[in-house]
Amino acid sequence: MTTTTRLEPGAVLGLMGGGQLGRMFAQAAARMGYRVLVLEKGNCPAAEVSAMHIDAGYTDPAALESMAAQTRAVTTEFENVPAESLSFLAARGCRTAPAAHAVSIAQDRLDEKAFLEKAAGVPVAPHAAVLSLEDIDGLDASLFPGILKTTRMGYDGKGQAQVADRDAARKAFAAMGGKFCILEKRLPLANEISVIVCRNAAGQTVTFPVCENHHRNGILAQTVIPARVPESAAQAARRYAATIAETLQYEGVLCIEFFVLEDGSVVANEMAPRPHNSGHATIEACETSQYEQQVRAMTGMPLGETTLVTPAVMLNILGDAWFDDEGSRREPDWQGVLALPGVKLHLYGKTEARRGRKMGHVTVIGKTVEEALERAKAAARVLGLPQPW
Ligand SMILES: Nc1ncnc2c1ncn2[C@@H]1O[C@H](COP(=O)(O)OP(=O)(O)O)[C@@H](O)[C@H]1O
Ligand SMILES: [Mg+2]
Repeated sequence: MTTTTRLEPGAVLGLMGGGQLGRMFAQAAARMGYRVLVLEKGNCPAAEVSAMHIDAGYTDPAALESMAAQTRAVTTEFENVPAESLSFLAARGCRTAPAAHAVSIAQDRLDEKAFLEKAAGVPVAPHAAVLSLEDIDGLDASLFPGILKTTRMGYDGKGQAQVADRDAARKAFAAMGGKFCILEKRLPLANEISVIVCRNAAGQTVTFPVCENHHRNGILAQTVIPARVPESAAQAARRYAATIAETLQYEGVLCIEFFVLEDGSVVANEMAPRPHNSGHATIEACETSQYEQQVRAMTGMPLGETTLVTPAVMLNILGDAWFDDEGSRREPDWQGVLALPGVKLHLYGKTEARRGRKMGHVTVIGKTVEEALERAKAAARVLGLPQPW
């Protein structure tokens, strides 16, 4: 498919992965008249709202052949979709947005850091590879205290250990079963932010207003748009995100997590080659959502404006909300939360609520960030969500 080829509404769009990010992509695509074909094993949030579903794994050759036969463009909603599967589809004439090479860089923290620093010229935390116990002997003392992270498959704080010194690093490396790791120096964080950036094949690149993120137990709990950070930091982060997308010749939606340090400087932490949890609120807060932007990018259509329409606060709803203080099951008070001003409810259609499982979110809008935060506090109280502020 050449860069000038467009997929008109009515066309089938392939989606690798069937989680909530895929569900919101499918909803945006359906609204614009496209038909989504999901590849995911079993029932899933995206298949429920998509026109078609291939019930198979991401590497199943017959499933990939079928995907390639039915669509000319494929996107992803999950970063650990094997890059080889995307290459397979690309070889059969599918536009893959993102391309396999971008996905593969983001799947390995060492490749990712090297790319960000050397190719894109974006600052990252001081770090070193830890591929063996011996590597730990040679680590620069200035990297401690640090965070040891597995290079692959980490998410929501999993596959990480805080290490005060070399001895702790040895223990943590052994505890991770000798998996390849990266040691990062622990930086003094003032804020955690993210920038969603979208680029299409024509080279048009747009960034969204900066998201301010608060985690709890390693999982995103709350996002505030626009981020309450110095304007200089917000501008630097958006500039870096655009440079990263351009350097990768990226097609599709990409999220970059950044740290704002106590001195106001900005360093990139990690990338997700897909829409991101922190961008859920773009549905209400921006002229074009990250999901609509993904549809526009993969179909070769012009990208939409990302201008802020309203300040918003996103609260993740985990399965924990289905348990009371004594651990008994309950139904969250939907009626109570929907009675509050500015609350938009998003549930992902998952039938089984488990602790730590992402079941949905609310986006709470307000005329100002302060009003959105006040309303979000009330919503968190009604739903029994932990209050991250
Ligand atoms: N170098 C660092 N310095 C300080 N805090 C860090 C550093 N790296 C990670 N963290 C903290 O750990 C969290 C999870 O790390 P991250 O690399 O984003 O992994 P994950 O893939 O689990 O999101 C970050 O959101 C941040 O709070
Ligand atoms: Mg992260």
